[in-house]
Amino acid sequence: MNTVVPDARFTADWLGLREEQDRRSRSHRLTGLVADWLAARPGVHGVVDLGSGSGSNLHFLAPRLPGPQRWRLVDHDPELLVLARRRGARLCDGAGARVTLATRCRDLAPVDDDLLAGVDLVAASALFDLVSRDWAEALVAACAARHQALLVTLSVDGDWAFRDAAGERLDTAEDAAVRVLFRAHQRRDKGLGTALGAEAPAVLARAMRAAGYRVESAATPWHLAAGVPAGRALATALVDGWYAAAREQAPAEGGRLAHWRERRLAGLAAGELGVTVGHRDLLALPEPPAGGR
Ligand SMILES: C[S@@+](CC[C@H](N)C(=O)[O-])C[C@H]1O[C@@H](n2cnc3c(N)ncnc32)[C@H](O)[C@@H]1O
Repeated sequence: MNTVVPDARFTADWLGLREEQDRRSRSHRLTGLVADWLAARPGVHGVVDLGSGSGSNLHFLAPRLPGPQRWRLVDHDPELLVLARRRGARLCDGAGARVTLATRCRDLAPVDDDLLAGVDLVAASALFDLVSRDWAEALVAACAARHQALLVTLSVDGDWAFRDAAGERLDTAEDAAVRVLFRAHQRRDKGLGTALGAEAPAVLARAMRAAGYRVESAATPWHLAAGVPAGRALATALVDGWYAAAREQAPAEGGRLAHWRERRLAGLAAGELGVTVGHRDLLALPEPPAGGR
């Protein structure tokens, strides 16, 4: 889930806030499948992480994948890349050997050799709601042409809801109205064309299958339970982000939206409300050539 993102700039604070929840939510089955796929390939395993931010995806994957590993982190935010380099400097692969790390400060467009050359695995986390259908399809086609695997994690599926202390979904008309406004806001252009928002997992899976990939998929929702202090800061940031986006989308409804925000923040603070946010992980593996491995 990405909260309000003027021109797709993200703060290190927001990325830090979500990192632990992302780690808990990700699919270990898909991680294991990509680890097996890499292990069957000889030599150094090249991985590019698109929209790497401060390096959360690298931190999750490197120790879970076989070595030797050579990573390239790509992002247009130089400050996040400095942070990613600092945090990744001593990171080791699954066998305990240091990973090689390079960063590239550039836009994700165009999809070209500079972005993709020399890697086995193209990874991205919490990125695809921001990109356009054209960019996503161009990326999948370029990866397929290079026989690269794709691991795209934590793409929002558009569903979020408040839960009571027993975990039951609480959906008021106001929640539904904010959700509609937020989804419309997610579709705004973040720099790569009209953004996919909640459509990202479905569009991506279709493009992967059309390109001949074997596609594995897993639901990877965030569960921020009511009354659990560890998740409260993230849940609060989510409500603030949903509110800000909804307000930008419907300025005339500011008063009603502010009232909604107040009530929902009070519910979180009192430990009466939790939040779930739908996400999906996708893994695309190239089919081996007929008669090949
Ligand atoms: C929601 S953050 C996710 C960061 C990281 N993958 C993670 O899981 O924490 C999206 C990242 O994509 C980067 N980004 C967004 N649009 C981009 C573009 N057009 N070119 C390069 N980087 C972009 C942002 O700077 C940000 O670091």
